[in-house]
Amino acid sequence: MILVTGSAGFIGANFVLDWFARHDEAVVGLDKLTYAGNLENLASLKDDPRHIFVRGDIGDAELVTKLLKQYRPRAVINFAAESHVDRSIHGPEDFIQTNIVGTFHLLESVRAYWSGLADEEKTDFRFLHVSTDEVYGSLAKGDPAFSETHRYEPNSPYSASKAASDHLVRAYHHTYGLPVLTTNCSNNYGPYHFPEKLIPLMIVNALAGKPLPVYGDGQQIRDWLYVKDHCSAIRCVLEKGRLGEVYNVGGCNEKANLDIVHTVCALLDELRPRADGKPYREQIAFVADRPGHDRRYAIDARKIERELGWKPAETFETGIRKTVQWYLDNQGWVNNVQSGNYRQWVEKNYAGRD
Ligand code: NAD
Ligand code: DAU
Repeated sequence: MILVTGSAGFIGANFVLDWFARHDEAVVGLDKLTYAGNLENLASLKDDPRHIFVRGDIGDAELVTKLLKQYRPRAVINFAAESHVDRSIHGPEDFIQTNIVGTFHLLESVRAYWSGLADEEKTDFRFLHVSTDEVYGSLAKGDPAFSETHRYEPNSPYSASKAASDHLVRAYHHTYGLPVLTTNCSNNYGPYHFPEKLIPLMIVNALAGKPLPVYGDGQQIRDWLYVKDHCSAIRCVLEKGRLGEVYNVGGCNEKANLDIVHTVCALLDELRPRADGKPYREQIAFVADRPGHDRRYAIDARKIERELGWKPAETFETGIRKTVQWYLDNQGWVNNVQSGNYRQWVEKNYAGRD
């Protein structure tokens, strides 16, 4: 079996759901269920014997050690993190605790477990760390896309904390020989994306008749990848990646934020027109910029394509249409996230449990 941390978050949940669509290998999910963790994302696995969910912190060495001993995973895939740049600006401490200190404790627990494995299991074991392109900083127009050897220049507390975690993972390979793999991916979008991030926020605000807040001039560029393509890249790196290597993952889909918002509005105009017949883009409101806002990200994904044969399956046009449709079809999920009802459900579900 494999141990997946952060399995109730956006990408972790998509990864687990996609895993079971392809494998019968069991998954132990470990998630602290912060505001971003939502067990409703995994509701379809409720009675699935292949899936075990444990609520807990990657930094809880006692718990993680117990889980490793009990379930003896062949791999650990680390999605757990505080992931929202704006929140890291308002309150960096949780980012330091989970992304740096938590990853450190997780690495220590995993190292102790791995050291005690028999030779063959030890050789086959993998620790895959899921990271971000934001560790590389910001690109100017015309700069070449981030390659794996681009220098680290993180600009936000979030990206600095992810950069620190990447360095720890690297050090555990070089110093202790822990068989690690790291992926640095660009912006994801798709089902179960928490509506604090650009694309889901624009969809839910548009439908609710609220303003669509675009930071600054809206000309910041991100390189968008459909979440299921990120999941396929992680499976590919887990299976075939060279130990100690870093693989950049991206969709070759550079878009300015304002263009993204226009695309979402146009799709909603087509799929769920406003009652008054006016276009959704009338709701766009330019607001104060994010402090220290990175101007452009772009990923050079040639290494993973060349070495491992990975390529995204979705274009931006197909992926964004599926995404908008998913939000239209899953208003119940959106309502529960917005009202906080999913949290009450979590409290209820966990009341009285060990
Ligand atoms: P998310 O915020 O949706 O999910 C994070 C999950 O981690 C949540 O379920 C949360 O409850 C859990 N978590 C937080 N702290 C924890 C802790 N101490 N112990 C255990 N669980 C904890 O984030 P996401 O967008 O799914 O991102 C997952 C990973 O992928 C992160 O490491 C992020 O840096 C990375 N990443 C994200 C993107 C993106 O566009 N979303 C792109 C590249 C890389
Ligand atoms: O690049 C990968 C990263 O992508 C991940 O590591 C992060 O976990 C993930 O959150 C994402 O970070 P961004 O800051 O790029 O994503 P976000 O959706 O917050 O913002 C995308 C762009 O849209 C960014 O330039 C800021 C802008 N924005 C965002 C929001 C929420 C707006 O203009 N208005 C908004 O309301």
